[in-house]
Amino acid sequence: MNPFCVAKNPLPFFSRLFVLLAFISIFAVQSHAESGYDAWLRYELIDDATVKSDYDQSLPAVIVTLDNSEVVQSARNELIRGVRGMLDRTLRMETNLPDENAILLGTLDEIKQKLPDFRAPTDLKKDGFCLRTVSKGGHKILVITAPNDRGVLYGTFRLLLDLSLYKPMADLDEKENPYAPVRVINLWDNLSGAIERGYAGDSIFWKDGHIVKDLTRASDYARLLASLGIDGCSINNVNADARAIDNEHIPELARVAAAFRPWGVRLFVSINFGSPKKIGGLDTFDPLDPRVIAFWTNKVDEIYAAIPDFGGFIMKADSEGELGPSAYGRTHADAANVVARPLQAHGGIVFYRGFVYNSHADWHNLKLDRAKAAYDNFHHLDGQFDDNVIVQIKNGPIDFQVREPASPLFGGLEKTAMAIELQITQEYLGQQRHLCFEVPMWKETLDFDLHAKRGGSQVKALVAGKIFGQPTGGYAGVANVGLDTNWLGHPLAMANLYGFGRLAWDPNLSSEQIADEWTKLTFGHDPQVVETITDMQLNSWRAYENYTGPLGVGGLTDIIEVHYGPGIESCERNGWGQWIRADTNGIGMDRTVATGTGYTAQYHPPVSDRYESLKTCPDKLLLFFHHVSYNYVLHSGKTVVQHVYDAHYQGVQEVQHFVEQWKSLQGKVDEQRYNETLARLEYQVGHATEWRDAVCQWFYKMSGIRDKFNRVGNDPNRIEAESMRLNGYQVFDVTPWETASGGKAIHIVSADGHGSAGFTWTNKPGWYDIAVQYYDQTNGVSQYKLLVAGQTVDQWLADDMLPSRNVPSLPNGHTSTRHTAHGVVLRTGDQIKIEAAADGGEKAPVDYVEIEPASD
Ligand code: GCU
Repeated sequence: MNPFCVAKNPLPFFSRLFVLLAFISIFAVQSHAESGYDAWLRYELIDDATVKSDYDQSLPAVIVTLDNSEVVQSARNELIRGVRGMLDRTLRMETNLPDENAILLGTLDEIKQKLPDFRAPTDLKKDGFCLRTVSKGGHKILVITAPNDRGVLYGTFRLLLDLSLYKPMADLDEKENPYAPVRVINLWDNLSGAIERGYAGDSIFWKDGHIVKDLTRASDYARLLASLGIDGCSINNVNADARAIDNEHIPELARVAAAFRPWGVRLFVSINFGSPKKIGGLDTFDPLDPRVIAFWTNKVDEIYAAIPDFGGFIMKADSEGELGPSAYGRTHADAANVVARPLQAHGGIVFYRGFVYNSHADWHNLKLDRAKAAYDNFHHLDGQFDDNVIVQIKNGPIDFQVREPASPLFGGLEKTAMAIELQITQEYLGQQRHLCFEVPMWKETLDFDLHAKRGGSQVKALVAGKIFGQPTGGYAGVANVGLDTNWLGHPLAMANLYGFGRLAWDPNLSSEQIADEWTKLTFGHDPQVVETITDMQLNSWRAYENYTGPLGVGGLTDIIEVHYGPGIESCERNGWGQWIRADTNGIGMDRTVATGTGYTAQYHPPVSDRYESLKTCPDKLLLFFHHVSYNYVLHSGKTVVQHVYDAHYQGVQEVQHFVEQWKSLQGKVDEQRYNETLARLEYQVGHATEWRDAVCQWFYKMSGIRDKFNRVGNDPNRIEAESMRLNGYQVFDVTPWETASGGKAIHIVSADGHGSAGFTWTNKPGWYDIAVQYYDQTNGVSQYKLLVAGQTVDQWLADDMLPSRNVPSLPNGHTSTRHTAHGVVLRTGDQIKIEAAADGGEKAPVDYVEIEPASD
């Protein structure tokens, strides 16, 4: 039978219209080229001849859909799009089985009617799917089926994943259920369009207080989520603006829900607990007040009238200034249940955030401990939450630090549904300026056994409800994508969104498999490309930890404002509770029962014992649990302070290695993504160096203990700006001091805004790289010129936005950056000079110049 024979039934008008639209969307895909917009759904033409010929021969030419739902139509369209991209073939659409091989899409019930002999797996759960080839009338039918239409969509995406990964068609016999019922994304977008902790442009949903008119990106985002099996997404900040659910906004929300619907993604909204007062005209928001109960009931009914498949609410209460039940002496259970009850009637849920702590704690009190807050606030309420309340708990007890133990609350709730909250947006992890693949970090938490029940209770199983038999629970990821074309800013950062989705679907996948899949889908199958990028991703979290905060010390960044560059003591002596309790004798929070805050008791034995004892506490978490002297000897045999020094120097070397690795891919990765990534990696080297020097200088000053290898405070290739011949420039003290080499830098003070800083090259002649470490603030665009022997060898503008907008921008650890002039010839006695022009509030500050023999 010729697979390309003409269909018996000519395509009805709407189907023809659809084919046209499908074509348009196929070409739209190509117009995005390699900007990163298509993320892992690029459907690149398969260039492996064997694979292509296998697929050409075995893939049917017809796709039959038995289900007319929007979701199954998306599945069909996606398959056409994917096959068109990968095989350059256009599948024919049918609604009846043709007299030839076919791909058949339908729910289990529909498939049973068409193929009565089809033996469906009996254990498929909601959203699970099965892919299986059966024979009928001498033809092969590749069945993609599931209990619900969303499962059919997920099964279709799985087929496309298999094809993208070159999996032999003959092996396609798959059945999968999601590990957890709940797999959602949270976005922290403000109604203004700005995003809390977003690092890739403004909101794709909101602008100037309203939902944007063009929801193409919203729908494209939902498609990305659906491809991972994510079925819910909240679109506004957890520090919620009550207006998000007022009468004016409900119709706008309905438009977003409609954009999500074809991809099986349900809309969620963050709510402000003070809403009954703020938008409801009441004088109270007491959750037990009948008027408040009526407010929530009516509000939920209004929302469901506009959005019948509305997912529910996210709620942050009594935390970081948000209103909560404590105003009326009520509990978190009272607060959660008052909104959960009306939602229950419609099948909706409430994610009640476990991130509740006192941000005005008395830092003098050595027994106080923010890490204890979540457990203390929720453990005693276990059993009091309604069934459709999910307590959403951050992976660690503090706040997305580079290294934290698993939150003990996961092991402290037996009668309450839970979700683990993982942060895809790299708030404390380099804000997508730095490469930091978080999957290995998440895996450590997910695989951690909290011993909440005999026989093992890993976090992944606890949150999925598997250990104590909760009917619901799972995974929530804070993604904060923005209007940047590539969604998250750094071309390699989408691996985190991909990784979150894959783990939410199946937390047993390895980091290696996830990195390998993502790289192939995003950059193609060239073995060198795959091996190199995978290696970089897998090593990046450890590198970041090394040059920021090793040994579980946490919070060495400026925790007050932007959470980006070093700002070591910003965590001390204030109410935020991210204390590291450092003085000249030692460092670390004593969280033991014996002498500290007693936090270790929140874990079940033997975990509590392991952390309580210095002997058994792992090095990587030592300073999280114990206060020790700088000379304390780790299990590794190193002292704490020497470990800190070594880790920081190693971390910078690792980032330098990333640059070399990336450069080895020139010509193998498309130019746009190659250049964008290289720029970020080179920036990362400069900023990692800033981190290294800040932390090492600070530890040296605090401990008075020298680096055994004499690196700290001894930079033979560095010329401090304050030691140069200055004209129009003046030396100033940088705050905090550790964020400048030697504590000082220079800035322009001349009336005409121009200045120069020069020095004489006294070393050997040769080829050199000249790096200028300067501060690139957001309140001006200074101009810099580098001259050697009177000739300009380089010039640049300080026009970056570091670290992000809307923060007071000063010369400090956030704005410190580096520009390197590569391969400059120097002769002994040459005059090297920086000439600069200040702009706005930015006075062309310079920290130092570092001159190293030229790299290749
Ligand atoms: C962090 C973050 C805040 C956010 C909060 C939360 O503290 O810095 O911006 O609101 O987490 O998760 O609620």
